Amino acid sequence: MNFENLQQTDPLCYQLMIDEMQRQEESLELIPSECIASLSTIEALGSPLTNKYSEGYAGARYYGGNEVIDEVEQLAIERAKQAFPWVKHVNVQAYSGSPANMAIYNGLCEAGDTILGLSLSQWGHLTHGHKVSATSKFFNAVQFGLNTDGYIDLEEVERLAHEHNPKVIVVGFTAYSREFPFEAFSKIAESVGAYLMADISHISGLVVSGAHTSPVPYVDVIMTTTHKTLGGPRWALIMTTEKWLKKDPEMAKKIDKSIFPGLQWGPHNHQTLAIAVALGEALTPEFREQGHQIVKNAQALGKYLEEYGFDLATGGTDNHLLLMSVGKGRGGFLQEALDMAGITLNKNTVPNDPGTAFNPSGVRMGTPIMTMRGMREAEMKQVAGWIYRVSEIITDFVYIDDKEARKERLKEFRAFIAENQELKDIKEEVKNLCIQFPIYK
Ligand SMILES: Cc1ncc(COP(=O)(O)O)c(C=O)c1O
Repeated sequence: MNFENLQQTDPLCYQLMIDEMQRQEESLELIPSECIASLSTIEALGSPLTNKYSEGYAGARYYGGNEVIDEVEQLAIERAKQAFPWVKHVNVQAYSGSPANMAIYNGLCEAGDTILGLSLSQWGHLTHGHKVSATSKFFNAVQFGLNTDGYIDLEEVERLAHEHNPKVIVVGFTAYSREFPFEAFSKIAESVGAYLMADISHISGLVVSGAHTSPVPYVDVIMTTTHKTLGGPRWALIMTTEKWLKKDPEMAKKIDKSIFPGLQWGPHNHQTLAIAVALGEALTPEFREQGHQIVKNAQALGKYLEEYGFDLATGGTDNHLLLMSVGKGRGGFLQEALDMAGITLNKNTVPNDPGTAFNPSGVRMGTPIMTMRGMREAEMKQVAGWIYRVSEIITDFVYIDDKEARKERLKEFRAFIAENQELKDIKEEVKNLCIQFPIYK
């Protein structure tokens, strides 16, 4: 990659960018919601299409000079329709996943209408109605949870749907390692006349690859971010299915109006171009193969972790991610120690978590980036081994209920991991593996 203009005009920004690129190249990224955008996508993102204002939609813009931008937007829409067959209408203008979810509620509901979604602590997203999110300020958010075994509590969903009569039911997750039960949700939504919205941000790349069931036959509207398993720029797609249009032929227009002029003004055209590029890549056989490999790698990683005695939520995975219990309130300890060893994942609540939201008892990890770098089952074995070694190094550090004592222990822990030689050795081993699988060849 050539950044010579930036290097000359702003060495400070250039250096920060190089430092981050180096961090990415030399460490193992296991956060399941991240991906590697291709060089072509990055070139599109850095293009002068960012210079243009084009509020409105193709053929109906407020400013002139949008002939080319119209073509770009239509291309992105067409490719989205090819990637998600049978989708009838696509909006490619939402600024990211959170605004896209808000735009759907805003298009479908009046202020105060009820939305029903999975609670954040049980792996829903903030924008599915969490109390600190605007989605619960403007709408009456009701939240469902998980069964003790870590699967969605469909009986609770059904009970709450009948009790609260929601306008929209959301089926979508951030840390659920099993197939999303679209069909079961569809039956519940139909029984109460609610719109069913699928937030497939995490799994959309798997859906395109055929490695996960498609929500298209079951739901009314689909939102996906484009920067997770879909492997594109940070952005979002809102897609309307035939089912929805049968219920209300005006609905697609309501969503479009909700985005513009309801919530947003100018679309980010460099992003639209980058989406078109990424969707073009998603239509290739290589992408399809990659989607299946992401799942195979996650299953292999899960198997090796279980061989080391780790406890996985629901006993494994059907998709790209794994959720692992590591003892009451210890998720943060493992996250920080792994950081020191060049392995990035995040602390996360687990089913029936004995810890707290801030000190949860598990970690969440996924295989998209490792797979996109070319790593396969053999490397997953190595990764599981490193996770085990790191967890053994920190066995003396456990969660303490007393807040003051906990703070002190955390200080000791941080001093310990900063100096620990074995963590430094593992970091070197991790770096050596990463160098064999460069992100940008
Ligand atoms: C399921 C789900 N929906 C929505 C979002 C929000 O996306 P964004 O970060 O683009 O606002 C995320 C992001 O993590 C997500 O996982």
